[in-house]
Amino acid sequence: MSGVVLPSGASPQDAGADHLLSLRGVRKTYPAAGAPGGRRVVLDGIDLDVDAHRCVVLVGSSGSGKSTLLRVVNLLDEVDDGQILLDGEDVADPRLDANRVRARMGMVFQAYNLFPHLTVLDNVTLAPRLVHRRSRAEAEGAAVEMLGRVGLGHKVTAYPDQLSGGEQQRAAIARALVNGPELLLLDEVTSALDPELVGEV
Ligand SMILES: Nc1ncnc2c1ncn2[C@@H]1O[C@H](COP(=O)(O)OP(=O)(O)O)[C@@H](O)[C@H]1O
Ligand SMILES: [Mg+2]
Repeated sequence: MSGVVLPSGASPQDAGADHLLSLRGVRKTYPAAGAPGGRRVVLDGIDLDVDAHRCVVLVGSSGSGKSTLLRVVNLLDEVDDGQILLDGEDVADPRLDANRVRARMGMVFQAYNLFPHLTVLDNVTLAPRLVHRRSRAEAEGAAVEMLGRVGLGHKVTAYPDQLSGGEQQRAAIARALVNGPELLLLDEVTSALDPELVGEV
């Protein structure tokens, strides 16, 4: 298997408490296609530290496990073994409320990020209102400000299909940022875009 290249030399001895995010011995397998009962190991003993305010890039060939790593960090998928420490707390513990943990993170995927039946503003205010229980006025104020910051102040009433791919991804990034996440996970957010739109994102 060609592995994901990890950017920092995380030390398994270090408990991870000083880092915003630490992975320790993270293992993830999927059922192996065509081999009944067999498992394909996608993440094999991953140790990784990410400090606050740092930008970390995972590099690896297609199928090497980059998206899987982001999904297990976001608790969209369960690890087979290992720890995922957010501010020193093991969030992979199934007894924890995954939604509470997820509310501390923002995630943007390759494509199809936005709800097509909602305006840009409603896409961005949905989580603040439903998950974070903010009032409509407060959520809309924060959303309009964040949409302005990503250059979409003039598109708040538009629907996703009225936006370019680059604008859609910027709206998705505004939605991920509006709740003030401690950790922002971006999974190849520009790979589905035409090359001339990559720069704006
Ligand atoms: N839900 C799943 N069920 C089975 N296999 C999966 C699943 N998700 C990913 N995989 C497999 O795990 C490997 C890593 O996939 P992925 O994390 O998407 O790689 P990358 O993002 O680096 O391209 C691939 O072999 C993929 O087929
Ligand atoms: Mg991927």
